[in-house]
Amino acid sequence: MKERKTIGLFDSGAGGITVLAAALRHIPGADYLFYADTDHVPYGIRTREEVTEYSTEAVRFLISHGAGAVVVACNTATSMAIRVLRETFPVPIVGMEPAVKPAAVGHPAGRILVCATPLTIGGEKLHTLIDRSFPGAQKPELVPTPALVELAEAERFDWESVSAALEQTVGRGQAYDAVVLGCTHFVYFRDSFRRFFPGADIVDGNEGTVRRLGDLIGAHPSDGGSTVRFFESGREVLPGSPEEARYRRFLDRASTVK
Ligand code: DGL
Repeated sequence: MKERKTIGLFDSGAGGITVLAAALRHIPGADYLFYADTDHVPYGIRTREEVTEYSTEAVRFLISHGAGAVVVACNTATSMAIRVLRETFPVPIVGMEPAVKPAAVGHPAGRILVCATPLTIGGEKLHTLIDRSFPGAQKPELVPTPALVELAEAERFDWESVSAALEQTVGRGQAYDAVVLGCTHFVYFRDSFRRFFPGADIVDGNEGTVRRLGDLIGAHPSDGGSTVRFFESGREVLPGSPEEARYRRFLDRASTVK
């Protein structure tokens, strides 16, 4: 029997469940702890100091509940706090960043859009990544789309709401070669993005992050199925409660979104 791993993931809210769904596919037979910082969602409009404080608290909590590795399933928290988290905690910590590199490789000289939170878009980390991935003059266009975080948290996944939010921020009729979903909440809307940007390659960083996690912890499937426990800002979400049902709905949606 292989050694079972306990893996902690956290996000400001339910967006990181799209990463959890990918982890369950790629690293089965592990025990997962998912922490949503619902007291402080959304992160994308806060300060660096706030996001660093909340992220530190989340990682401390996950480690104290047995996590041997942590995924920061949030582009915003990674952008603001990953360095501090890695300096503070002794376990492997995997971050997420907008999948700008794969978009650049797949579409050299293409027109590329990155949608993310205001904090990620304004963060130095993304700009360094862009300079490295796009050494030429043509850079991707960056558009903050925080309204999509609110829609996902409210479980509003309908085309009318999503297209209205995209129309207000990006505008209609733009032709892109690739659109990067630079926030884990946006992965729920992949279908609507595809419809809003016909012909564009819709790219996210979830699979890449989970592959990195597997490499880092040397994961191989252990015997038995995976388990998942949910936490909200330091409180356990009780199995069978309406709150847990809400997270299970997100997980179902994240597991089926194409
Ligand atoms: N899901 C998050 C991200 O990937 C953060 C959304 C928010 O809280 O603003 O950036």
